[in-house]
Amino acid sequence: MSATSELFDAARAVMEKAYVPYSKFPVGAALRTSDGQIFAGANMEVASYPEGWCAETTMLGHWHMAGGGPIDEIAVVAERMDEITPCGGCRQRLAEFTRPDTRLHLCDQNGVTKTVTMGEILPLGFRADLLK
Ligand code: THU
Repeated sequence: MSATSELFDAARAVMEKAYVPYSKFPVGAALRTSDGQIFAGANMEVASYPEGWCAETTMLGHWHMAGGGPIDEIAVVAERMDEITPCGGCRQRLAEFTRPDTRLHLCDQNGVTKTVTMGEILPLGFRADLLK
C-alpha cells in the first residue's frame, strides 16, 4: 500500500468517529509527518452550533500534542461530499503549520481523486512572520 493510500485509509477510518448529531456530515482528516507518523481527527459538533469544530482542527491537536514535526501531506474525506476542501478557517489553521508546497489530497469514498497544494487553496493568505 502506498503512503498516500495509507493516509486516505486513516482519514476514512477516523471519519467513523465524527460526532455530528446536528449536521450529519462526517468528515475525516489525516496528516503524515516527514518521519512517517500519521495523525487523524474527525469533526465534533455542539448543541450551540458555532462551538463545534472541524476534522482538520482535531487532527492538528493530535499532531501537536504528540510532538508535532514537519507535515508532508494531508488527506480530507467527507461521507457526503466528494473532494471536500477545508473551510476558510481550517485553511488558515493548516497554513500555520505547513508550507505552501505541502500536498493536500482531496478524496471520494474510495481514495484520493485530486491533489492540490496549500499555496493553491490559500493564496495570499495572512502570514504571521511579522508577529513572531
Ligand atoms: N467540516 C469539517 O470538519 N471540515 C471542513 O473543512 C468543512 C466542514 C465540518 C464542520 C461541521 O461539523 C460539518 O462539517 C458541516 O459543516
